[in-house]
Amino acid sequence: MNHQPETLLLHTEDRITTVTINRPDKRNALNNQVLEELQEVFISFLENDEIRGVILTGSGTQAFAAGADIPELAKLKEKSGRRASEKGQSVLSIIEATGKPVIAAVEGYALGGGCELAMACHLRVVSEKAWFGQPEVGLGLIPGYGGTQRLTRLVGKGRALEMILDGTPIDARKAYEYGLVNRVVAEGQTVAVAQEWLRRIITRGPKALKKAIQAVHAAYPNRAQGFHDESQLFGSLCGTDDFIEGTRAFIEKRKPEFQNK
Ligand code: COA
Repeated sequence: MNHQPETLLLHTEDRITTVTINRPDKRNALNNQVLEELQEVFISFLENDEIRGVILTGSGTQAFAAGADIPELAKLKEKSGRRASEKGQSVLSIIEATGKPVIAAVEGYALGGGCELAMACHLRVVSEKAWFGQPEVGLGLIPGYGGTQRLTRLVGKGRALEMILDGTPIDARKAYEYGLVNRVVAEGQTVAVAQEWLRRIITRGPKALKKAIQAVHAAYPNRAQGFHDESQLFGSLCGTDDFIEGTRAFIEKRKPEFQNK
């Protein structure tokens, strides 16, 4: 890294770096700066053999991340929307391809882009008070950071459609039952448990861990088409009347009234 990130806190101990998204007053929403800094930090890990494992978490216990930053999102039109989706997909794919195990430690809400971010990590340790959801349809939108693809792979088509069409978040117990998360622990303990778990994992051969991650992802060929379609569809919704109404309603703290336009 060339400079200290402003939206992330970094702490390295025992060859494990903890990356904390630090916008608690905005429920750690992923604005452009957070995405840029995540990209920069995770690229720097690629070349750093001193770091053997990474924990990704959010500041405080209220949210891991409440999704893309809605006021920023609200400005998107078709082309810029497609590009924003491609950017989010690309940052999350960099995290997935870091070459060392990445554990998401989830306290509170992991919604929209926050759920997508947690799914891009290799493992998920979550608080018993965590919530997971893809609420984008409530904004007149669909998941655009790879969520339609990763959620479907993790939980299957039926449950993915349930979560994406309904948009209501599910609790940690249900997320565990669905196979969306790996471990459910007491509130406030996710980072400590993730650290303990990673300490054991990183005693294994680092090259083997890297190739294992690669090999598992090779089980999903033709990934590019699904991601491409997701971005096109996401972009096609940006700037529509329903999208404008959905994002405006969130900002104005009221329920949206969609007109199918
Ligand atoms: N983008 C930008 N700001 C967000 C945000 C987001 N995705 N999610 C929450 N915030 C902001 C709120 O606007 C509010 O800011 P304010 O204090 O300046 O008004 C602050 O974070 C706290 O949010 P609030 O809704 O008051 O907190 P809550 O504890 O009652 O509810 C959530 C938390 C996460 C359930 C709720 O904020 C929410 O539903 N967020 C949006 C989730 C979403 O649709 N994500 C998908 C985006 S694509």
